Amino acid sequence: MRIEPVPALEGHIAVPGDKSVSHRAVLIGAICEGETRITGFGRSADTESTIAAVRALGATVDEHDVDTITVHGLGLRGMRAPDGPIDCGNAGTLVRLLAGILAGQDGQEFELEGDGSLSARPMGRIAIPLTRMGAGVETTDGRLPLGIQGRALHGIDYELPVASAQVKSCVLLAGLFAEGATTVVEPIPTRDHTERMLEHAGARVTRRPTSVTIEPADVLRLASVEVPGDISSAAPFLVGAAIVPGSAVTVHGVGLNPRRAGVLDVLERMGARIAIYNRRAIGGEPAGDVEVRASELVGATIAAEEVPSLIDELPILAVAACHARGETVVRGAGELRAKESDRIEAVVEELRRIGGHIRATRDGFRIKGVPARLRGGVVDSHGDHRLAMLGAIAGVASIEGVELRGAEAAAVSFPGFFDVLEQIARSAVHYPPAT
Ligand code: S3P
Repeated sequence: MRIEPVPALEGHIAVPGDKSVSHRAVLIGAICEGETRITGFGRSADTESTIAAVRALGATVDEHDVDTITVHGLGLRGMRAPDGPIDCGNAGTLVRLLAGILAGQDGQEFELEGDGSLSARPMGRIAIPLTRMGAGVETTDGRLPLGIQGRALHGIDYELPVASAQVKSCVLLAGLFAEGATTVVEPIPTRDHTERMLEHAGARVTRRPTSVTIEPADVLRLASVEVPGDISSAAPFLVGAAIVPGSAVTVHGVGLNPRRAGVLDVLERMGARIAIYNRRAIGGEPAGDVEVRASELVGATIAAEEVPSLIDELPILAVAACHARGETVVRGAGELRAKESDRIEAVVEELRRIGGHIRATRDGFRIKGVPARLRGGVVDSHGDHRLAMLGAIAGVASIEGVELRGAEAAAVSFPGFFDVLEQIARSAVHYPPAT
């Protein structure tokens, strides 16, 4: 795909429903009693994998519309093992959260598999706590395919060795089925969508600043979930608006959970002009309309404590850093190496190819902003949706444009990404005023 430079990005847009919340609404809806109607559902390749997975386990899902679905709950222990493996596609959140639920389906055996990228990602991090809770879990050298034997579980106290909302959620979901309380201690707070939704569904959840405890549940009931817009999908447009001179973009109805919105704090520190309007709650999550206007940016330091709140936005923030005066340093982000691609190596390789001054460190990167525009050239997505969007935004901001290889990967989280980009890309063609 060819991405041409644009004179400015301008307009009002909405982005699909939050992917993290959408996965959780389907998975938790499937273990609820009765129906869960999900509005603002973020339809994407990843969340379709989740719908397919709960269907394979016996749940009925009605699709009324692209973003409105109803999940007919099976109750906590109503899942039935399909004949073959459950395909989790590219979705790390699906495989890790579902594993926690399946571990509690006493007396049944399941197999989880995924695509090439997911099959390269670490699964020992969920196998260890689930085994300690009493489940039978077999990885393939620490990776997929994953065999799970549901058993009678018991609660544990578990200190997360890595800051991961997926692992935390896996253990909390298994805790619903356990005898006794389950506590997860977090080194750094991570996104809390699972805690919020389980509380909303009637589970007993106790939250402290660095830990969360869940009691076993008898019945969960959600009834309805409204999903806010995905700040991770908004981020490329917000960064684009910050770096392309003359731009002004407003993304409406975006989730602003403080454990997710670190990208806004960093952009603000870099000097971006950000305004938030209509602060409100959407589906139990803080939300609002976010406007970003172009300005001159300066480099920033991003430390480990901040990383979980912007982990998926670090690739696109690297593009902002290339356009900022001075140095940007990202530390404590070694987890980027365990994402859909090794996002430290991939970001460094691709931004260098188009003129960025960036180098990898063990747990992050260092970027010297020029702050001229990136030159442009070829960007490869490495089959990673966040890299595809990085390439597109780098392209519109660049001097020569970008030939984006593997652009289709964007559909993993945001199938309409390029249409929205086109909608706000002010045409490079200037017509003379009518006389
Ligand atoms: C997610 C948690 C994060 C994030 C991923 C979604 C979630 O992963 O990178 O895109 O929905 O819980 P980790 O828990 O592995 O950090």
